[in-house]
Amino acid sequence: MADSTKITRYPVCKSAELTDNTMQKVTINTIDVLIGRKNGKLFACNNSCPHKAASLSKGHFNGDNIVCYMHGYEYNLFTGKLEKMSSWKKEDTWVEQDPEWRKSGDLVLYSISEEDDIVYVTL
Ligand code: FES
Repeated sequence: MADSTKITRYPVCKSAELTDNTMQKVTINTIDVLIGRKNGKLFACNNSCPHKAASLSKGHFNGDNIVCYMHGYEYNLFTGKLEKMSSWKKEDTWVEQDPEWRKSGDLVLYSISEEDDIVYVTL
């Protein structure tokens, strides 16, 4: 019987392919993972935005945060924490129909490392 809790380290790219201040999406066993290097530090997280599942690889950096292109939420790439929620209130009298819709969890982070010029993600 297969052990579904098994943790495996997957080679995802060569170190030189992940230059500083860049990110890319890789797929590991059907899981889309966003990997990157920010100011020399590696990060890896699930590519699905914790808010409404947009692809985070279409976003951009703001410091150590990834800014989701869909609604502008910002998540710290190293702690995973939701740090900013942009407001889309059009005017003061505007009432949100369902405040639940704004809620978001934090990023799902993965372990990432480098060895002998190869980058590995652990799932
Ligand atoms: S889907 Fe990413 S901020 Fe809404």
